[in-house]
Amino acid sequence: MDLSVKIGKLELPYPTLMASGCYGSGEEFEDFADLSKIGAVVLKSVTREPRLGNPMPRLVPTPAGMLNAIGLQNPGIDWYLEHEVAKFAKRPCAVIGSVAAFSVDDYAYVTERLAARSEIAAIELNISCPNVGSEGETFACDPALTGKVVRAVRSVTGKTLIVKLSPNVTDIATIAAEAESAGADALAVINTLRGMSIDVHAWKPRLGNLTGGLSGPAIRPVAVLAVYEAARAVSIPIVGQGGIETATDALEFFLAGASAIAIGTANFTDPRIPEKIVNELGGYLNARGLRSLRDIVGKANAGFGTPFQYEGDAG
Ligand SMILES: Cc1cc2nc3c(=O)[nH]c(=O)nc-3n(C[C@H](O)[C@H](O)[C@H](O)COP(=O)(O)O)c2cc1C
Repeated sequence: MDLSVKIGKLELPYPTLMASGCYGSGEEFEDFADLSKIGAVVLKSVTREPRLGNPMPRLVPTPAGMLNAIGLQNPGIDWYLEHEVAKFAKRPCAVIGSVAAFSVDDYAYVTERLAARSEIAAIELNISCPNVGSEGETFACDPALTGKVVRAVRSVTGKTLIVKLSPNVTDIATIAAEAESAGADALAVINTLRGMSIDVHAWKPRLGNLTGGLSGPAIRPVAVLAVYEAARAVSIPIVGQGGIETATDALEFFLAGASAIAIGTANFTDPRIPEKIVNELGGYLNARGLRSLRDIVGKANAGFGTPFQYEGDAG
């Protein structure tokens, strides 16, 4: 069964990526999972300067998911290049670097340095960050800013560039199209949804940072729709993600138009999920007499038109 996928210049034997911030660099999972059976690990986002992250608590369980506000804790690009990156050469799967920043220049600076390393197969751009030099608007929530940052990063690396979109927008299709025309090789859809949980005894938000990002099965329908809409707007591959726990969940994303998927929160409960998904995808295709995963990509997104919105989606 052919489950291989091509994302830009990157050729992966399996369509399963481990989502940024949810799998370390793979090392921590080696005792529980066979890393040669996954497509790639996307590393925790790295920034120009070291970051200590947000005050505790940083994780709160929620119905069918969780809120996190880690605050992009990482050692900064200098330390990372000197002490971490060489270890990634030993991984039996592709390693994708993830870059976060708070200005266009810093996105380009960190990407250029990280992408120059042979251990890094591709770059994912986490653009769900505020542009602090300006009015603090989130890069991923503004089509013009998305275009600007993707163009700047595109000019410093020829490696495969995956741009990760935020669901916290009104029209993800416009942002997806902007990222594609600015030079993205692929899109990752979606990052977490903004959320808050309040302790009714303490009368205060549960997260140290007050707000956080919602992930897990609770966001899956939002993510599937985002992939569906982005897939209609672009012709580059999409890495679908948001609440995937089973092969059936993954299939929703492929049918909506994703060429690959990423698994995040589910790894915290069962590190064998990625391998199970790969095995079951093979079984699904086999049962239908199909030979390749590519035969089903976008099949629920071919000619059914735009969802009706005559009075919004309110009910
Ligand atoms: C604890 C935690 C940390 C995360 N850190 C990052 C990060 O550093 N960079 C990033 O682009 N996404 C980060 N994410 C988002 C995930 O990569 C993923 O896109 C999102 O959680 C949706 O997938 P899931 O529902 O399968 O977790 C993080 C998510 C979690 C739960």
